[in-house]
Amino acid sequence: MELVYSPQEMSAWSKRQTLQAKTVALVPTMGFFHEGHLSLMRKGAELADKVVVSLFVNPTQFAPGEDLGQYPLNFAEDCRLAELEKVAVLFAPEPEAIYPEGYQTSVQVGQLTKNLCGATRPDHFRGVATVVSKLFNIVRPDYAIFGEKDFQQLAVIRRMVTDLNFNLSVIGHPIVRESDGLAMSSRNSYLDPEARKSALCLSGALALAREKVLAGMVDTAELSTLISDFIRKHPGTLIDYVSFVDSETLEPVHQVAISTVLALAVKINSKVRLIDNGYLFLAS
Ligand code: PAJ
Repeated sequence: MELVYSPQEMSAWSKRQTLQAKTVALVPTMGFFHEGHLSLMRKGAELADKVVVSLFVNPTQFAPGEDLGQYPLNFAEDCRLAELEKVAVLFAPEPEAIYPEGYQTSVQVGQLTKNLCGATRPDHFRGVATVVSKLFNIVRPDYAIFGEKDFQQLAVIRRMVTDLNFNLSVIGHPIVRESDGLAMSSRNSYLDPEARKSALCLSGALALAREKVLAGMVDTAELSTLISDFIRKHPGTLIDYVSFVDSETLEPVHQVAISTVLALAVKINSKVRLIDNGYLFLAS
C-alpha cells in the first residue's frame, strides 16, 4: 500500500491508473477504522481494480464546540487495517494541503441539507460536500463508496454528483452493526459502559418501529410518540430528532410507506451524538 500525503501526488497516481485503463474506487473516511469502513473498502475492491482510501478529519464539517479536537485517531492501526484490505493508496493529506491559505470556495447542496442533521448542524453538509468534491477532483475515481449509516450524507453526495456532473458512480453500502445491533461508529469509542447500554436505544427504536409497522401502525405521529418514549426510557438520552422521511427527498411523511426511512439522532450523556436509520418495511 502506498501512503500519499500530497494532492498533486495523488492526482498523478490517478492519472497513471487511467493511462493503464485501471478503474479506481474511492472510500472517503475520517479514519479510526472499524468494520463499517472496512466493508466499504471491500466493496470498492469488488467494483474496481484499485481502491483509494482517503483519511482526513475534515475541519470544515465540524462546528465550533463539536468534537474536532477530540476526534479519535489511530493512524498506525488504520494503515495496518487498510493494508490488510489490499488498499492501493491511503491518501492522508494535512489540513493545509486541502485548505491552503486564501481558500474561499465551498459547495452548498440545497433543500436536502436543511432538515435532520442539517437542522442542528447548519454548516455540516457544506463542509462535507466541499471536501468530498475536492477528493473527487483530486482522485478522479470511477466509484465512490459511502455508508448508509450516514443516510443524509449519502443523499447529499448523490444530489451533488448529479447536479455538478461528477463523472463517477456513487455506491451506497448497508450499515454494519455490532452483534447487539449498535451501528458501528468511530464515535462509539466515546461511550463508557453505561452509555454503551443506553446507545442501544437507537437500534432498539428501529426494531420497535418495524414491529409496530408490521402490526399495522402506519401513522407517523403516533409512531413518533411511541419511539420517543422508548428512547427516553434509556438513561442519559436526549433526542435530537426522530423523523420519518421519504428516502429520496428526506422530507417528513405522515404515513409509513415502502420508501419511508426512520432517521434518528440521539445524544448520550449530553456529549456523544449518535445517528442511525433504516427502512421500516424490512424484517428487523
Ligand atoms: P466517517 O465518519 O469516517 O465515515 C466514512 C464512511 O464510512 C462514510 O461513508 C460512512 O457512512 C461510513 N460508515 C461509518 N460507519 C458505518 C457503518 N456502521 N456501516 C457502514 N458504513 C459506515 O462520513 C465521513 O467520515 C465524512 O463525513 C466524510 C464522508 C469522509 C467527509 O469528510
